[in-house]
Amino acid sequence: MDEARLPKIKVMPPGPESQKWHSRAAKHMKGYSGQVKQFPVVFASGSGNSISDVDGNTYIDFSAGIYCNSTGHCHPKVVEKTTEHVKTLMNCHDFTTPVKALFLEKLASVLPGDLSGIQLFGGGSEAVEAALRAVRVIKEGKYEMFSFWADWHGKTMNSMSLSSLGNTAFGPRATGCHLSPTPNCFRCPLKLKYPECGLACMEALEGTIEMEGTGQQAGLIMEPIQGYSGSVVYKDEIIPRISEICKRQDMIFVVDEILAGMGRTGKMFCVEHYDIVPDVIVLGKGVAGGFPISAFAVKEEYSWALEVASASTTYGGNPMACAAGLATLEVIEEENLLDNVNAVSKKMMEKLVEIKDSHKIVGDVRGKGFLLGIDLVKDKNTNEPFIEAGKKVYVEAFKRGLAWIPAGNILRLAPPLTMTEDLAIKGLEIIDEAIGIAEKDLGYK
Ligand SMILES: Cc1ncc(COP(=O)(O)O)c(C=O)c1O
Repeated sequence: MDEARLPKIKVMPPGPESQKWHSRAAKHMKGYSGQVKQFPVVFASGSGNSISDVDGNTYIDFSAGIYCNSTGHCHPKVVEKTTEHVKTLMNCHDFTTPVKALFLEKLASVLPGDLSGIQLFGGGSEAVEAALRAVRVIKEGKYEMFSFWADWHGKTMNSMSLSSLGNTAFGPRATGCHLSPTPNCFRCPLKLKYPECGLACMEALEGTIEMEGTGQQAGLIMEPIQGYSGSVVYKDEIIPRISEICKRQDMIFVVDEILAGMGRTGKMFCVEHYDIVPDVIVLGKGVAGGFPISAFAVKEEYSWALEVASASTTYGGNPMACAAGLATLEVIEEENLLDNVNAVSKKMMEKLVEIKDSHKIVGDVRGKGFLLGIDLVKDKNTNEPFIEAGKKVYVEAFKRGLAWIPAGNILRLAPPLTMTEDLAIKGLEIIDEAIGIAEKDLGYK
């Protein structure tokens, strides 16, 4: 794909072929995410930093298949290595295969500290759920878990119970799941201002643990950057402080890097920005370039617990997935993709700041590496979320050739780690234009 010619919009999307295929699928499939409901385009193929629909339109990719395609769509090495195993052995339960051993060794070599006890799964929620089981084993049956408002850990019952549900249809949270106010300084849930607040949110966390806990405190799970809730980055002292609180409260510290990990923030794992090693890391999404595989890893001293927690699942660690994961990790290293993320994201952030300064409705631009967000507000003094503008900007940019991710008033930017500077800037120019259109249509110009 010649990037200089991107994006390529031949038919106003979602075009007739998209409409035809989506209505056929939607007859059966219900409950689409907001991004599909708002823009039901139907994709046909992906190549590097772009993705194409069934009407022949090609978009700049700021979504990476929801943070998965770290090495770009269909990277030749990932395709070749995965295909070898599609042709030879697709599944053999939890028996070892050479490629599984190689993938585990490679993964252990990139994980921080001595996080060397690993279990493999298929999807993110499954790995979170398994990590929660391991925490119970480590803490000999203690079961209370803590997390933060607006965190996202998945859709199984316990992972969901430690997440922002945004929906009351599922009834109560699972027993022993407690959430504390998020240390989000842009919209502080305690209505305080940093640094005068003295990090009152951390006192609130200790209060939640002490007041809601019943002596069964086992651990805390958090996203190092809240992805689903809008690329919320914490002040540098927050994560080390939470790590300390977990130690003091004798709790296992679990960091869910499913979204932020595997190079997306410019380091292999986001916690490396804060120089701490948690007790447990959960990972998924970008680890295999889009092939479904996830994992969690525990410190050596807790490895014994994995025997009891029991790893085997039907698909976890199958040969195809391990081959995709091994090839992805090798490509990240061979192509110096972390350097690319750091260099290109710096330019992106400069452009994002320009966009913020030139628009009335952009309250904040933020993120680390290729985990970026634009927060739309009705008023820059109050930062009241502007959800209508979020929908408008998402759709207008998509129509102009940018595939990306909405989250209410927040727009999320998550290019593959291979994204080039020129294409990234083109994507941001589309966003700039779409914000201008929204401002005009919504009476801000
Ligand atoms: C931080 C985080 N944890 C867990 C999950 C759940 O992963 P999955 O959708 O693969 O079950 C997600 C998914 O978006 C996530 O972003």
